[in-house]
Amino acid sequence: MTSLARPRPETSAMGAAHAMHLQLSAFTELKARRQPIVMVTAYDAPSARLADEAGVDLILVGDSAANNMLGYEGTTPVTMDEMVMLTRAARRGTRRAFLLGDMPFGSYQVSDEQAVTNGIRLVKEAGADGVKLEGAGPSASRARALVEAGIPVMGHLGLTPQSVTMLGGYKAQGRTAAKALRLLEDALALQAAGCFALVLEAVSAPVAKRISEALRIPTIGIGAGPDCDGQVLVWHDLLGLNDGQAPRFVKAYADLAGQVRAALETYAAEVRSRQFPEERHTYGIPAEELAHFEAALEPSGTTPGDDPPG
Ligand code: KIV
Repeated sequence: MTSLARPRPETSAMGAAHAMHLQLSAFTELKARRQPIVMVTAYDAPSARLADEAGVDLILVGDSAANNMLGYEGTTPVTMDEMVMLTRAARRGTRRAFLLGDMPFGSYQVSDEQAVTNGIRLVKEAGADGVKLEGAGPSASRARALVEAGIPVMGHLGLTPQSVTMLGGYKAQGRTAAKALRLLEDALALQAAGCFALVLEAVSAPVAKRISEALRIPTIGIGAGPDCDGQVLVWHDLLGLNDGQAPRFVKAYADLAGQVRAALETYAAEVRSRQFPEERHTYGIPAEELAHFEAALEPSGTTPGDDPPG
């Protein structure tokens, strides 16, 4: 066992009796060792299991589930109940990785008390190890309240999709000296509030580098250059499930949409041409039983259950 992990008692029917589960302290230790942290989103049990088995350190049940899983236009419509359901599913597939539930829009903006109430739901009902929330200012106060309640918090600065209307669209952040300084101040405020890590989204690379150097806690970049302490990608972007609709900072490591479409087209063609199912996909019946069955149908040409002939 490394100092970064502890045994996690069996919580589901999957896997071995014990697996190493990453501790909260692992992330500052990884930063201190200059070892990049790997994070990915996942929104269900099989995806979380694959990410976990691949050795991903942090799994985020992001509110990007809104568009990637639930078909909403942006992230703001997704509800706490939906996030709890998705996070609970991801929990069932996660053993080693640290599992974060994203706090959806409207679940923490009102007050510290509201943030703690909803953060507790993600931990208690869904089994998250921690939560993520967007923004600074009031969000730093929410983060502090959550941490004081015993809930690990990841911050999220730069392009914060929940406030995309206020930001004027999906575009890179921190591209003037004043805005870059503001980002740095916000990052320091979130660190002071007790956040254990910080997502930097669509932040220009040199600014993200300076922020990462200034912080004790790790930064996890998405479109924030190579000098963050870790990287995160969204499941559907990473696996090419978005039909090329991803932002420029995305690298697709597979073309699953193409593979899934081809598989479905082949399946449809084989059903229509009766190529599927084949003999090996079907269940038989002993010849004798089949003969009895056929015989029972023979004399009257009726099937059992039909009304007797009048
Ligand atoms: O919801 C999400 O997927 C996120 C990641 C982009 C970090 O917040």
